[in-house]
Amino acid sequence: MKTKKRVGILTGGGDCPGLNAAIRATAKTAHKIGYEVIGIRDGWEGLMEDRSEVLDSSETAGIIDKGGTILGASRASPFRIDNGTQRVFSVFNKLGLEALVVLGGEGTLAVSSQLFKMGLPVVGIPKTIDNDVAETNFTIGFQTAVQIATDALDRLRSTAASHHRVMLLEVMGRHTGWLATFAGIAGGAEAILIPEIPLTEKRVEKLCQMLKKRNRKGKNFSIIVVAEGTPLEGQTIFRSSINMDSNEAPNRLGGIGQVMGDLIERRTGLETRVSSLDYIQRGGTPVAYDRSLATAFGVKAVDLVKAKRYGEMSALKGNRITSTLLEKVEGRIKTVNPNVYRIAEIFFG
Ligand code: F6P
Repeated sequence: MKTKKRVGILTGGGDCPGLNAAIRATAKTAHKIGYEVIGIRDGWEGLMEDRSEVLDSSETAGIIDKGGTILGASRASPFRIDNGTQRVFSVFNKLGLEALVVLGGEGTLAVSSQLFKMGLPVVGIPKTIDNDVAETNFTIGFQTAVQIATDALDRLRSTAASHHRVMLLEVMGRHTGWLATFAGIAGGAEAILIPEIPLTEKRVEKLCQMLKKRNRKGKNFSIIVVAEGTPLEGQTIFRSSINMDSNEAPNRLGGIGQVMGDLIERRTGLETRVSSLDYIQRGGTPVAYDRSLATAFGVKAVDLVKAKRYGEMSALKGNRITSTLLEKVEGRIKTVNPNVYRIAEIFFG
């Protein structure tokens, strides 16, 4: 009997809501055109260690609304492990895969692009709550994280009003401020601090003057959103001295919210409190938008596999589901569009 063509799927990097919707769509679409689907466990680590399972329709049924990834994820990279790339190719061939669909953020997709240049038939799907992947308007997981942060801002607004306080909310986003900007607009924030706009002494002073002016005018509370990667006078704040990828310099962002909160309270005399959403932004069920985007990206990825258009990635351009070259994504991050931030600024103060 003719053996079925096989396609692999893996989820690399940080998880996000919507991954399972993308896994489901990729698998179901591939099944429909006669592929067997192999789920690789825990990102590149599982491929290097030959940990996988056949994903038949029962495995991908009823997961569209489930947070996380049924396959597991890791931040492992074959380029940071001895013989890592050789192990990727040898397990890929041992599994008899025709192609590999990789769901990842900018780091995982850059690894995919490099492996493609070495001959691995790979197709990408962009996912991350940070929305910092180039060449696509949105990534899977972003809109859900925006909703989670917006719901938090709504709640913070009521307690800030009760106590006449300045409330800061620190959100994730790595070195971009997409999450902070979109949630800040939706949550009606009085200020949004993002890595794309340097937090100089001048800007800090202007922020403090705005807060005091609001207070004098009887607007007795303020809501500020700050992205985790926002440097204060050039200094990025890390939550830990441990590196999240390998034993290099610390890169676990976090803590700028509390630093700014303390600074604001000292400089303005206004009672200030700080909350951080941390991993709550990464968990739970995806909103409808992310379920639909993930489904469309999964279908597109299988189209690319079927057409043998390896080295490409599903992408959203305007309202069109299309594709782009992984090499155009590699080594780049998408920073906040100044026109989007200008909309937010109109409502500051
Ligand atoms: O890339 C997604 C993300 O949630 C970032 O916003 C955050 O800085 C990072 O992952 C946290 O990584 P980890 O889950 O490894 O702590």
